[in-house]
Order: sequence, then C-alpha cells, then structure tokens
Amino acid sequence: MKASDIREAFRLAERDDIISFAGGFPASETFPLDEVGAVAEKVAREMGATSLQYGPTEGLYELRVMVAQRLKAQGIPCRPEEVLLTNGSQQALDLVAKLFLDPGDGVIVEKPGYIGGISAFGNYEAEYWGIPLDGEGLRTDLLAERLARAKGTGNGLRQAIPKLCYVVPNFQNPTGVTLSEDRRRHLVDLAREHGFLIIEDNPYGEIRFEGTPRLHIKAYDRDGYVLYLGSFSKIAFPGLRVGYVVGPEELVRKLAIAKQGTDLCSTSFGQKLIVECERQGLLDAHLKAIIQVYRRKRDLMISALKTYFPEEVRWTYPEGGFFVWVTLPQWMDAKAMLPRAISEIKVAYVSGGAFFTDGTGKNTIRLAYSQATDEDIVEGVKRLGGFLRREIARGLKESAELRQSEMAAVAQESRS
Ligand SMILES: Cc1ncc(COP(=O)(O)O)c(C=O)c1O
Repeated sequence: MKASDIREAFRLAERDDIISFAGGFPASETFPLDEVGAVAEKVAREMGATSLQYGPTEGLYELRVMVAQRLKAQGIPCRPEEVLLTNGSQQALDLVAKLFLDPGDGVIVEKPGYIGGISAFGNYEAEYWGIPLDGEGLRTDLLAERLARAKGTGNGLRQAIPKLCYVVPNFQNPTGVTLSEDRRRHLVDLAREHGFLIIEDNPYGEIRFEGTPRLHIKAYDRDGYVLYLGSFSKIAFPGLRVGYVVGPEELVRKLAIAKQGTDLCSTSFGQKLIVECERQGLLDAHLKAIIQVYRRKRDLMISALKTYFPEEVRWTYPEGGFFVWVTLPQWMDAKAMLPRAISEIKVAYVSGGAFFTDGTGKNTIRLAYSQATDEDIVEGVKRLGGFLRREIARGLKESAELRQSEMAAVAQESRS
C-alpha cells in the first residue's frame, strides 16, 4: 500500500492562503444546512433509538428500495435485494476487490483512471491493464486488440484475461470525459466474450450541464456482467458516507459477508437522513441547484483557461462533473513543478501522473473547479497561466543552452 498524492494535496486545500484546484470535493456552500438540520431532527424524533442503533449489513431496506426505484427510472431493472449500501462507493470498490481478487489477478483500468479505484485494487495486489482514453472515453478498440492477443495464453497458475474492468463512464475522474454509447455497448460485448466483470462507477453522472444523458453500461447488460456503483457523495453530502453497489443478488449476498468483516453495517442515521431528504424532495432540489453552480464554475474555468493559458497547453471540456484535464507539452513535469506553483503563485493542483499505473502522464494536470470560489477560479487560472508561460520559457531556454553546449562539445571533440 502507498500514500496517495491526492490525499497529500487535500491537506493543502485546507490552507487559507492557497487557491486549490486539487480536491474533488463538492462546494460546501451549497449544502442546505437548515433544511438538513430540520430533517435530522425529524429522523431522531420519529425513528427514535433505531436511528442510533446498528442496522442490517445490507443497509436500510427503505433506502435500498429508493435506490432500486431511482435506477429503474434510469433504465436499470433493479430490485432492492440487488442493492448493497456501503460507506461511500469507495467502500464498494474495496469490497469488490476483496471478494474477487487474488494476488496477480488482472484488472483493466482507464489510463488515466480514478486513483482511489486503482489503489483499492492495488491493495489486493492486482496487476493493472492500463488502457488509454480519448475524448470519447476508454479506447475499447485497443482493449479488444489486447484481449484478443491475450486469449488462450494463460496457464494453470494465472489467467491471461483480467477478472475486472474498472470504468468511470460519466465526466470521468480525472479527465472529465464521457464514454460514448458505442463503446458502452462494445465493452459489454467484450465482457461477455471474454468473461470479465465490469465495475461501472458513476458518482458524477447526474451532474450533467448539457447534452443528452447516456444509458448506463449496466443498461446494456442482460447477463450479469456489470456491477454498478453509485454514491450520494457528489449529488448530496459526502460526509454522510452513503454509497451503493448493485448487482446480481447472489453477489450482493457475498459482498455483504465481506462487509461484515469490515464494519458490520453502514451508518443508520445517515441512510435514514438520505431517505427523508428524498421524501421531502430535498435531494432533487439540491441536485438542480448544484448543477447550476457547477455549470457556472465550469464555464468560468474554461473561459479563464482560454484567456490565460499558453497556446502550447490543451484541456478537456467536461459536459458535467467536477474536473478539467490539462495536457502540457510532452517534456514538462507537473509533479516537479507543483512545489514551485504552491510557493511562487499559491495555487495547488493534482499532478496527473498519479492517475497512471505505468509511470507516464507526467505532463498532465487535474484541475477541480467544484470547490473553489468563482473569484478564485479566475484568479487561480490566471496565476497558473502566467506560471506555465514562465516554466515553458525557462524549459525552452535551458534546452537551447543544453543544445548549444552539446554542439560546442561535439565541435571541441572533432577539433581534438
Ligand atoms: C470516480 C470516483 N469513485 C468513487 C469515489 C468515492 O466516493 P465516495 O466514497 O464518497 O462515494 C470518488 C470520489 O472522489 C470518485 O471520484
């Protein structure tokens, strides 16, 4: 196990003098504290002691029913018995890894991919199959080629085909890109053909600013090849730690056994709070409100990037979610630059290399616009743009000097 660069970056976000684009946190100022406070009081009063008692490992039945209904409305046929409530979807990732992985088992991950998922699998000694992304998400054509090459090459000790394929299909963390419909269908076909399980992790899907929502990968799945992970962290409140995993009942039962060894059950109070917020229409109202807020922040960030960033730099345009992904010239090293960015311009970001499993991606940066204030988004991008211009000029000057001294050395050598 190793420390995550992102957790380190989160510590910076707490410093008042730093403009942080590091943590993918929801904007705290959007939390409707008065309304949630009133709901919390009602839950404690009406539910009484059970709200503070242990609950069933699978989670509060009412919330499982509610999740099943929400998913049915989104095209995933689902019964409450197929839902396991977890402490955030991060716990679901850990439980899935615990249940399925033996050391050395393969897991297909996006390159770049969500670091929390990657590390959850890494903790159980998975071998990563990093498959690149482009503007339409995971390159399923490249995955198909690699699977075709691997087919039949395993032996008694090791399967050649990975057991799991982990994808964040909507407004992906870290790139903000969304998987196309064709590739969703293709991925399910590949899972069926090669016998691996898709882990569809979708905490951002409902935070869509524009365009048509895509069908969930699970909606294409008729044979139980997809486990769907959802969360109330980004659409509601991450401090409640309420997420879920949806899959065939038999698997949910096994995941529940794995969960018993971890924490017995998730928070009774938090789950009940979510149910009650939903009943009162608070969840939908909150979602509507935050979509406006994050759309405005996305727009501010994109327009500031256009104004202040040097022309050598590229970025993605997310249709939802929290993140913009920035690609610098190939020779640049975002991790090495980060301490200078913090000390010189007081701006923090996450260096993109952390999201790659193969040591590449050094010239990339993840910027989260979700938490920074409107003013800080503009000011932070302005400072970062100036900083990058100086870094690019410095790098170019250094490489010109290096070339000159190499040429001088060659000339010297040929003279002697
Ligand atoms: C893609 C993705 N999956 C899962 C999580 C974990 O969320 P939680 O455990 O709060 O539900 C996050 C949090 O940032 C995420 O970005």
